[in-house]
Amino acid sequence: MNTKYELLYEGKAKKVFAHNDLDKVKIEFKDDATAFNALKKEKFEGKGKLNCLISARIFETLIKNNIPTHFIELENENTMIAKKIKVIPLEIVLRNTAYGSLCKQTTIKPGTFLSKPLIDFYLKDDELNDPLITKDRIELMNIISSDDLELIINLTLKINVILKNFFKNIQLKLVDFKLEFGYDSENNILLGDEISPDNCRLWDLNQTNDTIISLDKDRFRNDLGGLIEAYSEINRRINAFL
Ligand code: TMP
Ligand code: ASP
Repeated sequence: MNTKYELLYEGKAKKVFAHNDLDKVKIEFKDDATAFNALKKEKFEGKGKLNCLISARIFETLIKNNIPTHFIELENENTMIAKKIKVIPLEIVLRNTAYGSLCKQTTIKPGTFLSKPLIDFYLKDDELNDPLITKDRIELMNIISSDDLELIINLTLKINVILKNFFKNIQLKLVDFKLEFGYDSENNILLGDEISPDNCRLWDLNQTNDTIISLDKDRFRNDLGGLIEAYSEINRRINAFL
């Protein structure tokens, strides 16, 4: 599809195409899944569509709550129209519960509730393997101003409150998530990328015991199987709720 529009950028999970309106882009969600900086790769038929639909519903919820995002509308089940942004090369991770790399790099036990959300910054740089970086290093590299970083931190904390509540309503625990931001043509900071089970950890709250049931990309990262079933279940719960 989209052969008529110029491919501006191809990432691991999405393709970004030009739009007739220069302030907009078309974002096509792919079925590819990668983990560990693409050391691990697999195609899951239908993943692109599920992530596109889930992301669209979540962006709509955030917009209703006054969060500035790049999302405009769905073009079809696999493609969204978004405002064109210059992506800031940072991955902002917010953690409510300890899991994943936090537990590999510290002595904090998996599943520990964090009394205050933890925000970690990673430099978006595949060659360097997206390293964890500090506020001071961000400043040193002149990636963004400290005022803009504060704005992004505050937006991320607000988004966390909205998303935690959104997912709780559909019996999911929001363990952690990764966000990306960018500047529009008027230099406003907008939330970009996607919000989907590819970049959120979501645990099923419909559990009678303490077992962790991951309904997210950990199914692929940790070879648990059933990725499409998990993403479909999230999409089903969102549609049943909204
Ligand atoms: P981590 O525990 O591996 O650092 O991941 C934290 C969260 O960020 C988790 O929800 C998955 C998400 N994430 C991405 O979206 N992209 C990435 O490249 C990585 C490493 C994590
Ligand atoms: N974005 C990561 C990758 O490079 C995967 C992850 O989410 O863990 O492949």
